[in-house]
Amino acid sequence: AKNVGILAMDIYFPPTCVQQEAMEAHDGASKGKYTIGLGQDCMGFCTEVEDVISMSLTVVSSLLEKYGIDAKQIGRLEVGSETVIDKSKSIKTFLMQIFEASGNTDIEGVDSTNACYGGTAALFNCVNWVESSSWDGRYGLVVSTDSAVYAEGPARPTGGAAAIAMLIGPDAPLVFESKFRGSHMSHVYDFYKPNLASEYPVVDGKLSQTCYLMALDSCYKHFCHKYEKLEGKQFSLSDADYIVFHSPYNKLVQKSFSRLMFNDFLRNASSVDEAAKEKLAPFSSLSSDESYQSRDLEKASQQVAKPLYDAMVQPSTLIPKQVGNMYTASLYAAFASLIHNKHTSLGGNRVILFSYGSGLTATMFSLKINDGQYPFCLSNIAAIMNVDKKLKSRHEFLPEKFVETMKLMEHRYGAKDFVTSKDCSLLAPGTYYLTEVDSMYRRFYAKK
Ligand code: ACO
Repeated sequence: AKNVGILAMDIYFPPTCVQQEAMEAHDGASKGKYTIGLGQDCMGFCTEVEDVISMSLTVVSSLLEKYGIDAKQIGRLEVGSETVIDKSKSIKTFLMQIFEASGNTDIEGVDSTNACYGGTAALFNCVNWVESSSWDGRYGLVVSTDSAVYAEGPARPTGGAAAIAMLIGPDAPLVFESKFRGSHMSHVYDFYKPNLASEYPVVDGKLSQTCYLMALDSCYKHFCHKYEKLEGKQFSLSDADYIVFHSPYNKLVQKSFSRLMFNDFLRNASSVDEAAKEKLAPFSSLSSDESYQSRDLEKASQQVAKPLYDAMVQPSTLIPKQVGNMYTASLYAAFASLIHNKHTSLGGNRVILFSYGSGLTATMFSLKINDGQYPFCLSNIAAIMNVDKKLKSRHEFLPEKFVETMKLMEHRYGAKDFVTSKDCSLLAPGTYYLTEVDSMYRRFYAKK
């Protein structure tokens, strides 16, 4: 198969959200801490009738229906998620309800889990399958989904929730440049979920920020090295048109892009002009450990990077700023934002994506973009995702109501023998929702 990549995409996020500005006031944080300090506008969350399974059911059935894909045409289905509802039964098996109805049970793939990286692992599995000798000619389908919730405290405003589905096959508008992948994987305790009775992670916030930036540096180094070996010339940021980052919160994305510019400066790459070189020169002798701690470097590189950030990164920040960290879906929601904002001009462009999952696993990879052919074309993908309408039709909850919802969800996590309110009044038609968990922990869903 040639030009393997993403043929189609759809995104779902809950219609319920809370404004970050209201959260600041409610939490007694200083004004601007979440909106400017973290760079976040709003946070989406699941109420008691939604979870990762319902969101996945919704996004998969929506993608199949809107692109006119027969469920029999799917030969591989992979899910990336770190939201554990069952330690054995995969989310993928819940999604089989959609395919069994059409008589298709011949579908490989299960779930992949490592923090926010599972979606990327699932995506690579599908791309590799289509490129391999075991490919049977049908499509792959990837679902990235999470409900990101934190205990009360400084991490709580970095939650979010979504599900994204991506159809994988040959002759795609979003083509993988599979030879240029750079990974960095290592053993750290920056963010993990050892307490199986709670949905909340244990998180060392400061460590996780440094781990993210170190992984970024390392992936970029490997990525550049592979590019240079194959292309015979140096790689710099000017060889890409857009950089899309996993986005726990926007401030870290701003810091990440300026970190890449600093890397280019140290490598004496063409993307850094004379004026920028002068501003970064005082930092050229810092050890790498020192460079992660230096506030002056952070400030100088962010200033130098600002114009390129606005051009190369800003268009991908819309959904992550509006919905929050969606864990495995976060990178792909950023990518969806780029398509939403730039679909008329992306043809011929190269987009670099950076995926990070705590613990830690990270990969930088590259996509080449062409306009594609209906229904698998950029304009149709943007129209079907309909991001503006989905954002505009959300319902804002007050922080008190959000906190109340979190408390209820704490009780419901891992519980059995309950029925939900079945209140789907806020959900759009076609949305799946949880109705009941019976005495055997079996979960039941309905479609609005
Ligand atoms: N106005 C403007 N900016 C402000 C204000 C204010 N009133 N108050 C604080 N700030 C700034 C701070 O200066 C800081 O900016 P800086 O990073 O440029 O220095 C920023 O807001 C955050 O403030 P901190 O005090 O550093 O934040 P805190 O320690 O309370 O928590 C953190 C932030 C660590 C990100 C926390 O939310 C967290 O742990 N989140 C989850 C972990 C996470 O997302 N890690 C990222 C990678 S791993 C992953 O994807 C899960």
